[in-house]
Amino acid sequence: MINEHVFNNTKFEESEILKIFIGICRGLEVMHNYKHTSNSSASGRLFSEGNDEDEALLARNETAEDDENDENDNLHLPHPATDAGTEAETNNSTEMAETIPFAHHDLKPPNVMLSAEGLSVLVDLGSCSRARIRVRTRQQALTVTDFAQEHCTLPYRAPELMDVETGAYITEATDIWSLGCLLYCTCFGYSPFEKLEIDQGANLNLAISQGKYHIPEDRNGYSKELIDLIRQCLQVKAKNRPTARDLIQRALEISRKLDV
Ligand SMILES: *[C@@H]1O[C@H](CO)[C@@H](O)[C@H](O)[C@H]1NC(C)=O
Ligand SMILES: *[C@@H]1O[C@H](CO)[C@@H](O)[C@H](O)[C@H]1NC(C)=O
Ligand SMILES: *[C@@H]1O[C@H](CO)[C@@H](O)[C@H](O)[C@H]1NC(C)=O
Ligand SMILES: *[C@@H]1O[C@H](CO)[C@@H](O)[C@H](O)[C@H]1NC(C)=O
Ligand SMILES: *[C@@H]1O[C@H](CO)[C@@H](O)[C@H](O)[C@H]1NC(C)=O
Repeated sequence: MINEHVFNNTKFEESEILKIFIGICRGLEVMHNYKHTSNSSASGRLFSEGNDEDEALLARNETAEDDENDENDNLHLPHPATDAGTEAETNNSTEMAETIPFAHHDLKPPNVMLSAEGLSVLVDLGSCSRARIRVRTRQQALTVTDFAQEHCTLPYRAPELMDVETGAYITEATDIWSLGCLLYCTCFGYSPFEKLEIDQGANLNLAISQGKYHIPEDRNGYSKELIDLIRQCLQVKAKNRPTARDLIQRALEISRKLDV
C-alpha cells in the first residue's frame, strides 16, 4: 500500500495510519511482555485473550540460528522486573511465570500485513528472539553485531545494533526504533534513512548512528502529534524511547482528537 500511494501520488489518511500503528504496537506489546510459564498448557490464559497462536509462535526455540544458540547460553539474560499490573495477576497463581521479553528484530513495512478486517498482523517471526542481551565480552559484541547484520534490515536497524559495544545492554527498544522508521515510511513513503541516502548519498550507517533524518516542512499534511510519535521512537538513546504500551496510549489520544 505504501508503494501504491507513492505510485498514485496519494497518501494514507491519518486515521488509517493510526489504526495500523496501534495494531502493530499491540503486537509488539505482547512480544515485549511475553510470559513464560513452566506449564505451557496452562500459560495461554496469561494472555488477555488466551491467544494460543501468538504464544506458539513466540515460544519457539531461539529461532533458527544454530550458531546463536551457543552464544545465548553465555549471554546473561536477566529476569526483568514484571510490572505491577501483571504481577498482581500472576502473584497468586500456582504456575511459575516470568516475563521474558522477545523482540521481533526485523520490523519493517513488508513484515506487517493487513487482515481482511484491516487489522495489522506482524509476520516473518524468523528473527524473533529474546530481546534483552547484556553484552559482556568483545566476542559477544561481535556475535550480536553479526546477528543484527544478518537479521535486522539496515534502514530499520537501531543505532545500538550498528556496531555493538562491549558492556551494552540491548533491549526490546530496538523494535521501537524500527517502529519509528516504519511510521515515517507510512507517512512519507520511504524509511527516514533510506531517503537521506537516495537524496544526498549520505552514509546510512553514520546517519543512523547519529539519528540524522529529515522531516518535510509540510509534514505531508499530518498532525504535529503524529510526527512527534516518530521523533519519540527515533531517539538514539534507547532508554529514552517509549514502550509499545506508552505509544498505544499516545496514539489513541491522537485518534480521539481526530474523531471530535
Ligand atoms: C492506486 O490507484 C489504483 C488505480 O486507480 C487503485 O486501484 C489503488 O487502490 C490505488 N492504491 C491506493 C493505495 O490507494
Ligand atoms: C499443566 O496444567 C494442566 C492443567 O492446566 C495439568 O493437567 C498438567 O498436568 C500440567 N502439566 C505439568 C507438567 O505440570
Ligand atoms: C525446543 O527445545 C526443546 C528442549 O529445549 C526440544 O526438546 C525441542 O525439540 C526444541 N524444538 C524445536 C522446534 O527445536
Ligand atoms: C502477593 O503475594 C504476597 C505474598 O507472597 C501477598 O502479600 C500479596 O498480598 C499478594 N498480592 C496479591 C495481589 O495477591
Ligand atoms: C489466592 O487468593 C485467594 C483469594 O483471592 C485465596 O483464597 C487463596 O488462598 C490464594 N492462593 C494462594 C496460593 O495464595
